[in-house]
Amino acid sequence: MKQSQRRSQKQPTVTACFPTFIYRAPLAKSASTGGAKLRRELRREADILRDIDTEGLSWSEKNYPQGYTSYGSMDRLHKSSPTFSSLEQELDRHVAAFARKQKWDLRQGRLEMSSCWINVMPAGAAHSLHLHPLSVVSGTFYVQVPKGSSPIKFEDPRLERFMAQPPRLSNAPPQLQPFIEMTPKDGDVILFESWLRHEVPALRSGFESERISVSFNYDWI
Ligand code: NI
Repeated sequence: MKQSQRRSQKQPTVTACFPTFIYRAPLAKSASTGGAKLRRELRREADILRDIDTEGLSWSEKNYPQGYTSYGSMDRLHKSSPTFSSLEQELDRHVAAFARKQKWDLRQGRLEMSSCWINVMPAGAAHSLHLHPLSVVSGTFYVQVPKGSSPIKFEDPRLERFMAQPPRLSNAPPQLQPFIEMTPKDGDVILFESWLRHEVPALRSGFESERISVSFNYDWI
């Protein structure tokens, strides 16, 4: 037996199982444009919505302190605005790629956008830990992310089972940590499974521009 074979027989096997996928990509095929035209139109519509969506403004006052979201008032913007409908078309391609990575068998069904809303966060705004019930894939398209503003932070879904497990070393790889942060750039899409809890920590003060994003859910129908 060769020495290398003897060595490989002695190597233990450690298998990482049950992965949790988080997908990230630029929305547009051309990284140079980053969907610039679409982002410009979405910024314009964000301004209009904030002027006319009185129901959303009062919902945000109670549930989204310091920021504005149309989640409580207009959460099907892809059905009412051609701009959001164009975004849906682009996102469909990314969601299909995410489903392929997951090796999901969709049978005769498909993944379809069920809700889509806009979020505007000035400095000081935060979005606490939550998940998206009744959906399969959720995600966010980043329209405008001021440099240095908050990441999106995901929680290890097994955290409640860890009980007596020792904490990880602080220099362990990010995917072994109990929380993982992703700092998006303008034009990025981030997708995840809807049961995965996530939050946006408070934006530090000092930003002149706002963090603008479009969040959405996809259902299996
Ligand atoms: Ni969310």
